[in-house]
Amino acid sequence: MGKIIAITNQKGGVGKTTTALNLSASLALANENILVVDSDPQGNLTSGFGLRSRMNSGLYEVYTGKATVEDIMLQTLIPNLYILPTTMDLFAAEIELLDKADREMTLKNMLWPLKKRFRYIFIDCPPSFGLLTLNALVAAESVLVPVQCEYFAMEGVSLLIKLLWRIRGSFNETLDMEGILLTMYNRHIALSRQISEDVRKMFKSKVYDTVIPRNIILAESPSHGKPAVLYAPNSSGAQGYIALAKEILNENNLLF
Ligand SMILES: Nc1ncnc2c1ncn2[C@@H]1O[C@H](COP(=O)(O)OP(=O)(O)OP(=O)(O)O)[C@@H](O)[C@H]1O
Ligand SMILES: [Mg+2]
Repeated sequence: MGKIIAITNQKGGVGKTTTALNLSASLALANENILVVDSDPQGNLTSGFGLRSRMNSGLYEVYTGKATVEDIMLQTLIPNLYILPTTMDLFAAEIELLDKADREMTLKNMLWPLKKRFRYIFIDCPPSFGLLTLNALVAAESVLVPVQCEYFAMEGVSLLIKLLWRIRGSFNETLDMEGILLTMYNRHIALSRQISEDVRKMFKSKVYDTVIPRNIILAESPSHGKPAVLYAPNSSGAQGYIALAKEILNENNLLF
């Protein structure tokens, strides 16, 4: 049975979408069946896979009962990597869902039947604590938290940990911490090294050994509609995500 992992941090621009794009692609290239869910109305993940122009419906239509998961699911450039894409309409779902009973269960009901088919299902969350993030945290079995190696990182993570405890208390008792990922690391900058040390001191073995370096290729490749691991596999950024995929597979006792 597959595992559902929410990639989340309420702080914006920390590398959630970049991680969803490149980690899912790295795992798919290692022959795992993978699904990614673009649960952010900004739709950065959908465009990062070059799929914006190929779709006219997305997660919003499933949330509102106008389409099924199968109707909207698209194959990416990698044959065993699929996406549930989004359009900007998803912004409206947060408001429209407010009166619905079980409104926080919608995504879980969509995704759990797919655990039979996919080894991992990653949900790319928006940078906020709204109903879309709540749906992701109710659907997920664990959370992967990208943390940017910069000044306010620790405050952001502490707030997120508090939120996760509340979700465990009221909505999802078994929600686990999959891991904390240090992103945009620059070994020449003292602050980067300091943040990395502080995060490791606080969260110990929950922090991945793999650190994602700051690398312009990771920022460039989405504009070509490709993850960096396809666009420039030898770049330091792509190699970082390939190493992360190996670490995750090893942790789950699978051979890469
Ligand atoms: N390791 C990296 N090196 C260089 N640039 C990066 C790296 N990771 C992400 N970026 C760039 O930083 C910006 C923010 O990254 P990304 O979109 O992945 O963050 P996010 O957490 O999903 O943001 P949001 O909260 O807005 O959804 C993007 O322009 C992305 O291309
Ligand atoms: Mg994003």
